[in-house]
Amino acid sequence: TPVNEAAAKPVPTLPDAQTVTSVKHWTDRLFSFRVTRPATLRFRSGEFVMIGLMGDPDPKTGKQKPLLRAYSIASPSWDDELEFYSIKVQDGPLTSKLQHIQPGDQIILRPKPVGTLVHDALLPGKRIWFFATGTGFAPFASLLRDPETYEKFEEVIITHTCRDVAELEYGRQLIEDLKSDEMMQELIGADHLAKIRYYPTTTREESPKMGRITTLLQDGTVFKDLGIDGISAQTDRGMVCGSLGFNKDIMAILEDFGLEEGANSDPKHFVVEKAFVG
Ligand code: A2P
Repeated sequence: TPVNEAAAKPVPTLPDAQTVTSVKHWTDRLFSFRVTRPATLRFRSGEFVMIGLMGDPDPKTGKQKPLLRAYSIASPSWDDELEFYSIKVQDGPLTSKLQHIQPGDQIILRPKPVGTLVHDALLPGKRIWFFATGTGFAPFASLLRDPETYEKFEEVIITHTCRDVAELEYGRQLIEDLKSDEMMQELIGADHLAKIRYYPTTTREESPKMGRITTLLQDGTVFKDLGIDGISAQTDRGMVCGSLGFNKDIMAILEDFGLEEGANSDPKHFVVEKAFVG
């Protein structure tokens, strides 16, 4: 009897499945990957979605449930794929598995984008600051590739604090590519891309700029390095994405400068979101 292969080997169906198109490992703690984009998914740069894999079968019932975590979309809204930037936690329920995905594999992606790191939550201003630590760079990878960022602001400052130099590489390369890519120059404009000021710092390995960004803001080093007087509610806007402690500390600094936290429904001077860990 001829074997009906389709019946014998059903294609595994995940709810809201998307296909992995590429994976890049940056360090033993960090990787990025791209997946197909659902045709109907619309989002604003800076938003996040829930993504994940099927969990292990329940030992009693044998049933599997989706294991999902919030991930900032790192790609811009005009891109036909979706990009994500993730930490690898060896005993993390999701990332211990997710770190092994390969092109062709499927992941679950709930097509319901949300988030506060969006232009709509900020009042107009002259200068926008993106403050990131670690994988908190992800929403800014989206916003830095969005023409709206440059249409709205005269200056775009991205600070990224990581433990060591290798952890800066995803962001460093993205900004370098952004500035040298012909397609991006056409899309965003070379004069607009020239507005980017990149300020990377490391805390646990020697690099040209050492220290937490919080310390460098408090002692005035950042302003001296960038030739800026300081931060003011008249001209400056901020978006913050890092660990809880980082977000809290940056918020306090911005509030000391007189800035207030905004929201989608009530745009103000800065917005904050936790970088998600798995
Ligand atoms: P540090 O090495 O001094 O802890 P992590 O990899 O643990 O998520 O940290 C990413 C980066 O964020 C590290 O360089 C870390 O510095 C820095 N960081 C952690 N907490 C804060 C904070 N409250 N304010 C400023 N930077 C922070």
